Amino acid sequence: MPHNIKKIGVLTGGGDCPGLNAVIRAIVKSAVQKHNIAVIGIEDGYDGLVLPDKTRELTPWNSRGILHVGGTILGTSNRANPFKYRITINEKTEIKDVSADVIERIRLLELDALIVIGGDGTLHIASHFYNLGCPIIGVPKTIDNDILATDVTFGFSTAVEIATEMLDRLHSTAESHHRVMVMEVMGRYVGWIALASGIAGGADVILIPEIPYNIEQVCQKILRRNNTGCRSSIVVVAEGAKEIDGTLMILQPAEEGGSAERLGGAGNKVGMQIKKNTGIDVRVTTLGHLQRGGSPNAFDRILSTRFGVAAVELAVNHQFGKMVCLKGQNIDSVSLINVVGGQKKVPTETGLVKTAEEIGINFGR
Ligand code: F6P
Repeated sequence: MPHNIKKIGVLTGGGDCPGLNAVIRAIVKSAVQKHNIAVIGIEDGYDGLVLPDKTRELTPWNSRGILHVGGTILGTSNRANPFKYRITINEKTEIKDVSADVIERIRLLELDALIVIGGDGTLHIASHFYNLGCPIIGVPKTIDNDILATDVTFGFSTAVEIATEMLDRLHSTAESHHRVMVMEVMGRYVGWIALASGIAGGADVILIPEIPYNIEQVCQKILRRNNTGCRSSIVVVAEGAKEIDGTLMILQPAEEGGSAERLGGAGNKVGMQIKKNTGIDVRVTTLGHLQRGGSPNAFDRILSTRFGVAAVELAVNHQFGKMVCLKGQNIDSVSLINVVGGQKKVPTETGLVKTAEEIGINFGR
C-alpha cells in the first residue's frame, strides 16, 4: 500500500536533553533514505510554527555529525504554547490563542505528518493539535524520566551517568574533610534521577518527592554512621523533595503562557537542617543544567535512534495521535491521550527503593 507521505515536519520542544539530535538524525536518515520523504525542521519548538522564517529542510547531508552532539540543532522553547501564546506589543503582554495560525501553517508547509519531540508539556500541546485534526506523532524526551507509558525516556540515562560521576567525585573530598556532602539533582516532581544516581553513586541518604522526608531520620542515619567510624556521608536530594507536611522549594513561580515553575533550594534546605541538627560540617552542590548538557551516552544514542526510526514508521503507517515508547526491550507506541497530563512516579515500596533500603540507604522515613 503506498504510504503517500511526502513531507514530515519535526520540532523539539521544552527543555533540551542529550539525545535530541540523535532522534532528528534518525528521522532524517530513515525518512529521506528509506522512504523518500522530505523532512522540514521547525526551529525553537512551537515558536517555529507561529513566527515566520523558522523552518528549513533537513537532509542527511546537513544533519550529519550530530549523533553525539548535545542540545538540539533545531533549538527549543519551553515558553511557546500556541494555545496560550505570549505576545508583547509596546511593552504590553497579552495571552492569545494562536492555534488556528499554527494549523494553517502546517497546511501551508504541506506537512503530511508532524513529529513532536518533547516532554509532558510539549506532548500535551501536541495532543490538543491532534484533537484538532493535525497528523501528530510524539517522541518522549526528558532527563526526568517522568513520562507515562514508556519504561524510559532518552536523556535520563546520560543525566544519571553525569550525576553518578559527580557523586564519585564528592566521595573523596567528603572523606578528606569528614563532611556531609549534599547534592541536589533535577527531576522536577519525581525522584528517578536522584534514586538511580544515588544508588549508582553510593549515597547514604536519598530524598525524593514521592517519599516526603523526616529530617530527624536523616540526621540519625548520619550520626549512626559517625558513631561507627564513617565520618563522611553523601546525601542526594531531588529538587522536588519536601519534608513531611512541607512544601516544594520554588525558585520562580510559573508564568501564564510562559515557563513552568522553577524548582530549587531543596538541597540547601536539607544541608542547613543537617548542619543545625548534627553539628557536622556540610557542603551543598547543586548540579543544575550540567545534567542536561553535552553528549548523550551510548544507551541514549541507541534509544533516540530507535525512537526516531519508529516515529517515521508511525507516520508512514498513518498512525497519528500516537507516541513511540519503550516497553521492556521493544519499541512500541501508545495513544497520546494515555500519556499526557500524568506523571510516572517512583514506586515507593518496590523496585529500586526496596533495593536501596535493603542495603541501608535512608529515604528520610
Ligand atoms: O524537565 C527537565 C528539567 O531539567 C527539570 O529537571 C528541571 O526542573 C527543569 O527542566 C529546568 O528547566 P529550565 O531549563 O527552564 O531551568
